[in-house]
Amino acid sequence: MLILAVETSCDDTAAAVLDGTEVLAEAAMGQTVHSGLGGVVPELASRMHLEVLPGLVAGLLGRAGVALRDIDAVAATCGPGLVGSLLVGLSWAKAAAFSAGRPFLGINHLASHLFIHYDGPSSPVRFPVVALLASGGHTSLFLLDSWRSTRFLGGTRDDAAGEAFDKTAKILGLGYPGGALLDELSVRGDPRAVSLPSPLDDPREPEFSFSGLKTAVRLLWERGADPADLAAGFSETVSRILASKLLAQAGRHGAASVMTAGGVSANSRLRSRLASECSRMGLDLLMPDRPWATDNAVMVGRAAAAVLDSDREACSPMSCNAFARWSGGVLEPLCV
Ligand code: KG4
Ligand code: ZN
Repeated sequence: MLILAVETSCDDTAAAVLDGTEVLAEAAMGQTVHSGLGGVVPELASRMHLEVLPGLVAGLLGRAGVALRDIDAVAATCGPGLVGSLLVGLSWAKAAAFSAGRPFLGINHLASHLFIHYDGPSSPVRFPVVALLASGGHTSLFLLDSWRSTRFLGGTRDDAAGEAFDKTAKILGLGYPGGALLDELSVRGDPRAVSLPSPLDDPREPEFSFSGLKTAVRLLWERGADPADLAAGFSETVSRILASKLLAQAGRHGAASVMTAGGVSANSRLRSRLASECSRMGLDLLMPDRPWATDNAVMVGRAAAAVLDSDREACSPMSCNAFARWSGGVLEPLCV
């Protein structure tokens, strides 16, 4: 089952060809046009996707050694995300599916982050799973009783974890997006050298708040604190809160495994904390390889593979639209 997957939910143009869940080739291009503009400019992002996507897919198919007519299904992210960016990938994927006479699958971006861990119907994942999705737009906890049942447990009240990393990195004069840069800088700092608040840090409470933490960093920065210590203190506090809430929910729901997904799951302090805590608690831990923590098309292809593994006839209607926000509740990978 050959799947062509497209992801354009924000400022990365990404595409992949998969045979089931196995990756035959993938391609991605970030956008430098936003640098110095303080964030992603939606119209510029849409225009760049429009320019880049056709050539990116042509090169990708060549490297995978397949033609469009060989593809069995075409999948693309529908949302949540920047609507203009989504519309480009979605329209392109619908046109490709239509011209190849193949089904089109619209995929939910949040679900697809989790499905980076999907490894086929006989995958060895032990359920129930409690998952943390921490990205630039979301900080959410989910309970998975199986790959077909994903329920929202709680999320952020203000800034998403990645957004807080990016804003804090900006305060410290690092580039954008700054999460990975702040992570790198934090290695040279001492988290105990600065005193930062721990907002909403009751582990039993499945809700997050990071905007006050970022403001505390700003105040210490203005008073001359060392940037590496501030990066270390911030990264340590966020990773401790994320890990403690994830593990508390795992305990509460009798989880056999915990899972992370989204850009912030590339964070080194979060990864090492979870690795040691999960081994101590006897929990299986699924963390994406770093390049697949941030937005990518392989996760879209794997979500489509999961949908097709449970129903070979599954597809989205050609009228399937882009959306900016997910409405919450039960999370389905297929958009209809
Ligand atoms: O999942 P993603 O690529 O996009 C969204 O769906 O939002 O996540 C991007 C976010 C950015 O905010 C970025 O700064 C953050 O993930 N990020 C990190 C790291 N690498 C990326 N945050 C902390 N530590 C990292 N190593
Ligand atoms: Zn994402």
